[in-house]
Amino acid sequence: MNIHVHSHSIYLCRHGESEHNVQGRIGGDSELSPRGRQFASALREFIEEHKLSDLKVWTSQLRRTIQTAEELGVPYEQWKILNEIDAGVCEEMTYEMIQNTFPEEFALRDQDKYHYRYPGGESYQDLVQRLEPVIMELERQGNVLVICHQAVMRCLLAYFLDKSGDDLPYLKCPLHTVMKLTPVAYGCKVEMFYLNVEAVNTHRDRPLVNSAPLLRRNSYTPLSSHDQVKRPRLYSAGNRPWLPLTPSPTTLHIPDSPDGALLLQQSQVSVRLD
Ligand code: F6P
Repeated sequence: MNIHVHSHSIYLCRHGESEHNVQGRIGGDSELSPRGRQFASALREFIEEHKLSDLKVWTSQLRRTIQTAEELGVPYEQWKILNEIDAGVCEEMTYEMIQNTFPEEFALRDQDKYHYRYPGGESYQDLVQRLEPVIMELERQGNVLVICHQAVMRCLLAYFLDKSGDDLPYLKCPLHTVMKLTPVAYGCKVEMFYLNVEAVNTHRDRPLVNSAPLLRRNSYTPLSSHDQVKRPRLYSAGNRPWLPLTPSPTTLHIPDSPDGALLLQQSQVSVRLD
């Protein structure tokens, strides 16, 4: 991102407050609440005030993001892969209903939110993989506004701010707030704009008690990697560059190779760094 000649920013926000948000239900495809519509108008003013020339606007294919974008009066593109995390059998339930109906599922998700996959749905780890094409495209574009969803915004933010899989599902992405990410040397500058339209809080904090054992992990976890959050090419300002958590026992120096080349082996993959 740092090789862009002109400075550019990525603007991330969620759709305006939806009817399901007001009822505390997750997922589904409900419409905007009256306050959600107010946010959409405030977003239009925000774009005008910030004079965002050549702004590309991307939404998911769910009604709440499309209705938010419609209000802006500019062209926008719908991406299916920006749809919210699929909560499978728990779609359209409140957290309380999930806890009462599927207590074990609820506890499993609290135990390992990043890897937990809803029955018939997705995990955060699945979502990170689904979003990869969007991330690749964001790296190539100029100014883009992505109108998305809570879990999706967490994944995008985690990528650009180099957050771990453990922290990712708990990143705070409140409704009616725009986050502006600007690539700077070795990272991204983050600015937050609350657009002054009240909304419900949909954030559930990380549970304090973790009374193991329960351990089902539904996500596919490749053996070659302990952390599936794809890393940005550069690390964020103020953070240490990413290093493996433990020194890799499979790092070999081949002393009698002609040029002292370093051979790194992970699982079946071999990479030769000359
Ligand atoms: O509550 C809004 C919402 O976007 C749901 O549709 C989605 O399932 C949820 O947030 C994701 O947040 P969490 O992973 O914290 O449940």
